[in-house]
Amino acid sequence: MEAGRQDNLFRAIEQMPKVELHVHLEGSIPSRTIERLAQRNSIDVAGLVINPETGRHRFGHLINFLDSYRLRCKCLREVEDFEEACVDVLENLHSQNVRYAEITIAPTMSRLYGISMETVMRGIDAGATRVAREKGIEARFIFDVGRQFGHEHAWQTVREALENQARGVIAVGLGGDELHYSPEIFVKQFEFARKEGLHVVAHAGEVVGSASVWGAVTSLGAERIGHGLGARADEQLLEYMRIHNIAVDMCPTSNVATGATRSYADHPLPDYLRRGLLITLNSDDPDMFGSSLTDEYKVSSEMLGLDWQEIKTLCLNGVRAGFLPDLYKKNLFDEFSEAFARIESETPPALNS
Ligand code: ADE
Ligand code: ZN
Repeated sequence: MEAGRQDNLFRAIEQMPKVELHVHLEGSIPSRTIERLAQRNSIDVAGLVINPETGRHRFGHLINFLDSYRLRCKCLREVEDFEEACVDVLENLHSQNVRYAEITIAPTMSRLYGISMETVMRGIDAGATRVAREKGIEARFIFDVGRQFGHEHAWQTVREALENQARGVIAVGLGGDELHYSPEIFVKQFEFARKEGLHVVAHAGEVVGSASVWGAVTSLGAERIGHGLGARADEQLLEYMRIHNIAVDMCPTSNVATGATRSYADHPLPDYLRRGLLITLNSDDPDMFGSSLTDEYKVSSEMLGLDWQEIKTLCLNGVRAGFLPDLYKKNLFDEFSEAFARIESETPPALNS
């Protein structure tokens, strides 16, 4: 694409309203906040500094990434820590014109570090309430079940999610070490969560093939799959997800950074989208990858070859796949449609290809 057209497209991407459905609180906290919290709580975070050469960190493998992630979680100890982290993350999303976000948090990590769920939720709730009031961005929360921590922690996480529904917890998710722990291990916990009214999502097909995605969908009843790369060679599975409207929350920069995919060129997002799957675009752990949701949209144009129409589809799919009441979705659709029309009238040359 010639430079002027790309400038216009990038400007449109910056301006457009967005939804973020797959973003981890602990992996999104700005590095300067992590350093402040680490100092306050006497935690050595030397290993967490982003590579200054590139501004983009590569972890080589998901397991290395999870070690770093765990160290970030350790920096959060007091109610104020969680509140500050939540405010910084949501303000950052707001500065990218994100209107609605589902933020994943990792209760097991806090539990292992001796932090009570009351501490976590008081801080997060206070932070989210403040930013909603001041900036108008709405947040809901997903409690992540770390696969590697076993059954009892999974049960506890589901119970805590249920206890905190009134504070905006809407779903439980499966995350962590996909390589060594299959979704089927957690059937009972997710069945209970569903029955009690929580939504269910799962990281699957991030570093394991289609069996993991089938497991998340059929055994856990996952309504959205995080990453889903492993489905790429399984026509039957792709068709199943399309027919059943199971969203795939994709995060290309994360996949390159953790080695889940070799390169952007190798990423299946364009293929999935053109097959008619409900694909959403997300940033996963942006501060750990030196990226942002806005960057992901730029990448989707520059590296994945999507055009403006496809970018708008990704954006609206975020509204479609969010765990939101219908009326709220309708309001977002109206707002997004108006914003797209305004952006298109202001910067037409790049956007009508
Ligand atoms: N926790 C935070 N980010 C994750 C990822 N990309 N995969 C699995 N668990 C995670
Ligand atoms: Zn994730």
